[in-house]
Amino acid sequence: MNSDYRIVVLLSGSGTTLQSIIDANLPANISAVISNKVGVIGLTRAKSAGIPTHALEHTNYPTREDFDRDLKELIDQYKPDLVVLAGFMRILSSDFVNHYYGKLINIHPSLLPKYKGTKTHQRVIDQGEPLHGSSVHFVTSELDSGPILLQARLPVLSSDSTGSLELRVKAKEHIIYPTAISWLAEGRIHLDGNDIYMDGKKMAGPVVIDYM
Ligand code: GRF
Repeated sequence: MNSDYRIVVLLSGSGTTLQSIIDANLPANISAVISNKVGVIGLTRAKSAGIPTHALEHTNYPTREDFDRDLKELIDQYKPDLVVLAGFMRILSSDFVNHYYGKLINIHPSLLPKYKGTKTHQRVIDQGEPLHGSSVHFVTSELDSGPILLQARLPVLSSDSTGSLELRVKAKEHIIYPTAISWLAEGRIHLDGNDIYMDGKKMAGPVVIDYM
């Protein structure tokens, strides 16, 4: 990747999402990868790709605000155009979120606004939902509730277990997240209030890619 568009990726775990961003060879530069846990595979993936890494352990901080303040300071050293949450398992304080207004995105494994929070695949199966998927959205201070840019939608199969469904959703996440990031890097997407503009036109709703 060699571009002036700078991305900082935050993660907490295995980093398959990060890997998909690295492998997509986007018109962007991943300036740093930051984890709130030491020793996670996501950091190893970043190092293998020659990306600077940091582990900032949230357990060393008395409050969420203290952690978020240091995290913000660390991120801002890289002057990112975009901060990408890629399996970052922390709720972020509103000061942090507001600081990155329009520049902070997340991918959540459900068809938002349905199934906010955790254990989405299990809950989707338990509810007998015919459809499931994943959503790329801007982050606002309300959990999993920011404006949605892009979704992947796929059927839940009668043979699906939580594990198989998660794998099928992840495979699509690894397509839509790099796609959304490339739109942002190309300057095609802007946030104004709670409205997303694509190529200068207000979006009526998210772009939905069906994998039926
Ligand atoms: C993804 O499924 C994403 O939707 C969610 O966290 C998961 C991260 O997976 N936010 P990985 O750690 O990148 O493999």
